[in-house]
Amino acid sequence: MRSVWTQLMLILTVCTVLVLASCKQEDNDEADAGVVDDKVRIGLFVSTSGDFGTYGQDTRAAVNLAMDEINAAGGVLGKQIEIVFHDTRSLPEQGGQAATHLVSRDNVLVGIGAVASSVSLQAAPVFQNAGVPMVSPSSTNPAVTQDRDFVFRICYLDPFQGGAMAVFAYNELEARRVAMIVKRDDDYSTGLADFFQRKFESLNGTVVRVNFSRETGSDFSSQVTAIQNANADVLFAPVYYNDMSVIARQIRTAGLDIQMLGGDGWESELLLTGADGALEGGIFGTHYNPFDEAEKTQAFVEAYRELHDKRPSGLAALGYDAVYVVAEAIERAGEFNRAKVAEALRATRDFEGVTGTFSIDANRNARKPISILRIEGDRFVPIRQITPAEVE
Ligand code: PHE
Repeated sequence: MRSVWTQLMLILTVCTVLVLASCKQEDNDEADAGVVDDKVRIGLFVSTSGDFGTYGQDTRAAVNLAMDEINAAGGVLGKQIEIVFHDTRSLPEQGGQAATHLVSRDNVLVGIGAVASSVSLQAAPVFQNAGVPMVSPSSTNPAVTQDRDFVFRICYLDPFQGGAMAVFAYNELEARRVAMIVKRDDDYSTGLADFFQRKFESLNGTVVRVNFSRETGSDFSSQVTAIQNANADVLFAPVYYNDMSVIARQIRTAGLDIQMLGGDGWESELLLTGADGALEGGIFGTHYNPFDEAEKTQAFVEAYRELHDKRPSGLAALGYDAVYVVAEAIERAGEFNRAKVAEALRATRDFEGVTGTFSIDANRNARKPISILRIEGDRFVPIRQITPAEVE
């Protein structure tokens, strides 16, 4: 008898739990998605530790700044924003894990991240399948947003970035033969390398490709020899700052005097410390110009400097814009509903950010110019801007 009662109680309990769980699920999908304790939750997943930890540190600092400003001004749709943060530790697979956590346990309305394309590529399918909008502030690999109507980005893409650097190398540096050092097992590096090569060869230039991989560690001696043998005018290095600073030092130690050129992945305060002078005169592209006189940009630069005692990087600027793009989309959606927020994100037009004024196009990407910087001493000096129209 008792056991029958126990069984009935058990069945009743299970039913209650199931009913409650399904109610909760419904809440998540419909109105008030992401609202917990009267705050609206926005996920942030970037790498603040590991090989390229400064990317996430800069992004997070500016994301928090934007959140504080928005909250001080009354929040979104009358609710305060809460950022739920995950450190992806410079490991691509952590992108998938963080995304799973954010969409299933953290109950966020939207996710912001990642920086590194390899991390975003692991996270994007998770957000897409869960119907939770994801906005990458700075992943430039085209595949991140491809065929995923819930995945967005607010930065330029590698076909443009690679093309712009190729045009710059050919026209301004007058290079005809370029050596390229590529990290074979990194989505960002191979993608950007391919787009550079395509454009440079279409201009009738020659590219000599030199590969390395995660296993190479910090001994680039065989790559340095290959670069030497390539007899090139310029070295294009679509790699992150941690690898670049080591590569640059070993190139100079080998006595090779070659103009070095890179993409957005070079941007870090650790680039120069790591390179120890070896990158003097190096040139790379980034996402914004901190000397832009637009009032909005200068106000951001000042607010950030007040808090962190340094000029914000491109990563910081993109992180800051990402929060405002998301907040504006939520306001336009008019309710805390994921599908409606995604729809509003798709309709983003002429958004005035600190990285410039931009729209989200039919492929959920932004179209923006690239700022070219030169390394002079301990400074990154803007030398030129290249617009998409100049590359197409
Ligand atoms: N664009 C890089 C990527 O997709 C990330 C990055 C952006 C790094 C901006 C530095 C600055 O992997």
